[in-house]
Amino acid sequence: MALRDILTVPDPRLKLISTVVDGVDDALRALMDDMLETMYAAPGIGLAAIQVGEPKRVIVMDLAREDEAPQPRYYVNPKILWASEETAPYEEGCLSVPEIYDEVERPARVKLSYLDYDGKPVEEDAEGLYAVCIQHEMDHLNGVLFIDHLSRLKRDRAVAKVKKQKAA
Ligand code: NI
Repeated sequence: MALRDILTVPDPRLKLISTVVDGVDDALRALMDDMLETMYAAPGIGLAAIQVGEPKRVIVMDLAREDEAPQPRYYVNPKILWASEETAPYEEGCLSVPEIYDEVERPARVKLSYLDYDGKPVEEDAEGLYAVCIQHEMDHLNGVLFIDHLSRLKRDRAVAKVKKQKAA
């Protein structure tokens, strides 16, 4: 396993639409292993492949609390099958927009399908933090960041702050 560099705004690669993966093989599992290690090291609770420069529809996540054993989750070609009309706000952050947090409103519950680490198809319902995180990560697959849900002013400010952090 190897740590990968995490892209940050305004890297144009973060705007790419990631492509559907052609099945799960050892090379893809190696990418998912690297992504998980990179996410844990950051530390973060979710990471999309494009955040390490790979435009593939792949996500890793771990929503376990600090006092719980790790619960790594892997999503290949995830799809939202249904989203509730009811929405909920959540203060989001993103490893590609470090140290910026703001409230985003998203559907409170979703039903999703994906292939897991072994390439097995899974269907699942998500709510609470899980629903927030999977929708945030799936946005990355379509070149959308959580700051794209904010006003233009807030978005520009966030990007300027991250650029300043990097220059420092
Ligand atoms: Ni993110």
